[in-house]
Amino acid sequence: MASVLTQIIRVDPDCPDDQLLLPAAMALRNGELVAFPTETVYGLGANALDPAAVARIFTVKGRPGDNPLIVHIASLADLPALVRNIPPLAEKLFKAFSPGPLTLILPKSAAVPDLVTAGLDTVAVRIPAHAVARRLIELAGIPVAAPSANRSGRPSPTRAWHVELDLTGRIPFIIEAGSSHFGLESTVVDVTGPIPVILRPGAITAAAIREVAGDVAGSGIDSGPDDGLEMAPRSPGTKYRHYAPLARLLIADAAEITARGGQVARLAAAALTAGQEVGVFICRQLAGYLPAGTIDLGQADNREPPAGNPGPATKGMVRCIFYSDTPDAAAAGAALFDALRRLDQARVDVIIAEALPDRGIGAAYMNRLRKAAGSGGHDLPARPSDSRGEDNHEC
Ligand code: TXA
Ligand code: MG
Repeated sequence: MASVLTQIIRVDPDCPDDQLLLPAAMALRNGELVAFPTETVYGLGANALDPAAVARIFTVKGRPGDNPLIVHIASLADLPALVRNIPPLAEKLFKAFSPGPLTLILPKSAAVPDLVTAGLDTVAVRIPAHAVARRLIELAGIPVAAPSANRSGRPSPTRAWHVELDLTGRIPFIIEAGSSHFGLESTVVDVTGPIPVILRPGAITAAAIREVAGDVAGSGIDSGPDDGLEMAPRSPGTKYRHYAPLARLLIADAAEITARGGQVARLAAAALTAGQEVGVFICRQLAGYLPAGTIDLGQADNREPPAGNPGPATKGMVRCIFYSDTPDAAAAGAALFDALRRLDQARVDVIIAEALPDRGIGAAYMNRLRKAAGSGGHDLPARPSDSRGEDNHEC
């Protein structure tokens, strides 16, 4: 791929200046790609009605062509052009949760190119709440197809520097507006049948959907753990391994906090003994269980690292990222992808992350954590040469 000059446009997250957004909006309209912030994760946008522009998304991300895209619109008024009909269930859910982190699967109209939907006869639609995303879409005057703005297989970007790492030289514009509020991608819900089916759990929880719709099925429902595979045939993207850090990710999943602390400590001690660099993603309360004298707080305070490298981990120390003081799924979800990227920047070999109850927003957090871990097992990692620098073609 020929390299392009990437311009970073910094805007106010709550009240972006139209003059700053306009060049990017016009580029979008004219078939170019623009990365932009949303309240879930940063998106990589293209004119959804322009097949050549949409094709560029797949090339730039390295995304398999059988994984359909979400079309973003600024308001409900823009929906009818994209769909054959609006089921009553869709109207109810959009009214309750949009603008916001909800994506609905609807019967697609002929106006939506097949490339967007990977040949399916349904289209995914979302109305983002982020002021920058909404204004950009309004100024462009077109529906915007946008997957997360990462290279396929990498953690979704929740800060502009994550996008820069993956896409600099590949797209003309990255709009920077701080960190994404939720930090996990939208809840994807199929509303083409009699009851809503959650294909991907997110910040709009199964309980919240049930309250509005009366019933709900699918991934992340409160009645059982989500294995992340259940809905694979219906939401093509769920079959790929996602969100993978370069380091090996281990999950400390003991339900009780003392047992979980012990688990983190044992995994960390074993990896240190094996000569590996270790990072942990836990609440501050668990830090007390780590081997004495090994806590490295170089990354602990959620500072934005310089766009480059915050520096390698200190030998024999555990690089700690605390998502909050005590277990909290919303805080963990908001911090997860950033933590995976920062620990990769610190070049740790192993990341140990804390599991949280698989309910509510915890279902979304655990879904992403398990996918990032691949197997999610507890075995000690192999030497880093086994897993580093692999070309990851998964999405
Ligand atoms: O929060 C989000 O949803 C972010 C921001 C940028 O809006 N976008 C995002 O897009 O996460 P992406 O492409 O990374 O994930 C879209 C998911 C995939 O799992 C895809 O398979 C599913 O939505 N999807 C898209 N269209 C679909 C359809 N017609 N039927 C079933 N699943 C669909
Ligand atoms: Mg994605």
